[in-house]
Amino acid sequence: MKKIYIGADHGGFDLKSELCEYLTTTFVEFEDIGVYNTDSVDYPDIATKVCKMVDSDPNSLGVLMCGTGIGISIAANKHRNIRAALCSDTYSARMARAHNDSNVLCMGGRVVGSELAKDILSTFLKSEFEGGRHKRRIDKISELENNI
Ligand code: RB5
Repeated sequence: MKKIYIGADHGGFDLKSELCEYLTTTFVEFEDIGVYNTDSVDYPDIATKVCKMVDSDPNSLGVLMCGTGIGISIAANKHRNIRAALCSDTYSARMARAHNDSNVLCMGGRVVGSELAKDILSTFLKSEFEGGRHKRRIDKISELENNI
């Protein structure tokens, strides 16, 4: 099982707290990189912290939340080697791993309820990248990071 680096801005703080509790009860190793209260912060700063951890630890995945999940996923996808997927349903969470080899799951704390978010997270964690033709496409995304 991969280690999880989890973070959120103030808009995702409540959901992050629920998910940290869930990861604890399901014995998934994780590190909570903040925030630790609902004081207003800038979501790109949280995205950067989690993405740096994920990039430096190949056997890890990231989980990021802001109010909608949109800002933090846009910020996460600016980072090299990060493929962040904003998911509000379990099908997208499964395909994000299976086809996109996504290594950061993003959710909106003001969008998905905590029970659905737990299902999305657990689906993301148990799904595997299928490789094959999908690897070729992922490689093309990596090339974009070098050419732009
Ligand atoms: C903060 O109010 C909010 O803008 C942020 O959490 C996020 O939803 C941005 O995309």
